[in-house]
Amino acid sequence: MSQRLFEPITLRGIQIRNRIWVPPMCQYAVEEHDGVATDWHLVHLGALARGGAGVVIVEATGVVPEGRISPKDLGLWNDEQRDALAPIVRFMRSQGAVAGIQLAHAGRKASAWPEWGTEQTDGSIPLDAGGWETVGPSAVAFPGLRVPRELDEQGIAEVVRAFAAAARRAVEAGFELLEIHGAHGYLVHEFLSPMSNHRTDAYGGPLENRARLLLEIVDAVRHEAGESVVLAVRLSATDWADGGVTSDETVQVASWLGERGVDLVDVSTGGNVPAAIPAGPGYQVPFATAVRAGSKLPVGAVGLITEARQAEHILLTEQADVVLVGREMLRDPNFPIRAAQAVGATPPVPAPYRRGFRQAT
Ligand code: FNR
Repeated sequence: MSQRLFEPITLRGIQIRNRIWVPPMCQYAVEEHDGVATDWHLVHLGALARGGAGVVIVEATGVVPEGRISPKDLGLWNDEQRDALAPIVRFMRSQGAVAGIQLAHAGRKASAWPEWGTEQTDGSIPLDAGGWETVGPSAVAFPGLRVPRELDEQGIAEVVRAFAAAARRAVEAGFELLEIHGAHGYLVHEFLSPMSNHRTDAYGGPLENRARLLLEIVDAVRHEAGESVVLAVRLSATDWADGGVTSDETVQVASWLGERGVDLVDVSTGGNVPAAIPAGPGYQVPFATAVRAGSKLPVGAVGLITEARQAEHILLTEQADVVLVGREMLRDPNFPIRAAQAVGATPPVPAPYRRGFRQAT
């Protein structure tokens, strides 16, 4: 049976065993306010790798303390955080997965409550309850959250340096794929979108200015991380709102990313302003296809991809080069094994489990 899901894909000379990737998913499982990975991260990420995914991308990881979404986020601004990730990466790689990590700055959406483990979930965490001052391109709040401090040029340069330093630590920890978070209303997306970026300097106004922060981060990360690491960028291809980022702009940004040596664009949508999003199976795939056609870069499609045949169809019809499967992988980390059975490929069963997958008992 012809199938694409389990056809390896090679990026930067790194062969990836299949095209089912796990997107970054915040766990809010850091125990202290120190950004250091825990046993939860080892078991969670280890299970996803053991389940057969081609790439497992670690959750949004703050490049600076104020860039975390919540106090329970991972961070990568010091060596202790790097050293806690290293054995997790080693295990993921031992299972045949490529280990990736999403480097992130939450901008004006930082200092938020974690999704679980607290009574409150709405609004910003107050400064006297463990919250912090947030930053953004302009002093414009995400509705319901704190008004951010507008970053000056020095502050922007520090953000770029922090992404580069985190990238170096990620490579030192053994990650082979880095994803820059440019989506979901966090700092890079806030700069890209005219809805949150009202600047009149070199970082605001026309698209090339709004994209400047992202492009500077890409250059700095590539310089610091070296040529052998796979570099991906996650973008929100639309704000789902008039006056926001458009699909055409996203195609243009992706083309610039390609010129700068980005290897893949992970195409998501939304998050910068509250919006009614028509979510249904595969609803973001057309945005990925537009980026692929317009930029000629490999793309990942994500969002309500939950079935093997659906995923296979997206790849066979060349709508995307890989699929990222999030919540379905939380429900069943062995989804790649089931998917292989469904499309007639050899299931990526780990050796100690093989007896469990034989026909006869
Ligand atoms: C997410 N998502 C997400 N996205 C991202 O870019 N960085 C992140 O850290 C997170 N965190 C996160 C946590 C949890 C628990 C969920 C469910 C989602 C979004 C995620 O990567 C993905 O884009 C969406 O979940 C859509 O894909 P699925 O779940 O429909 O396959």
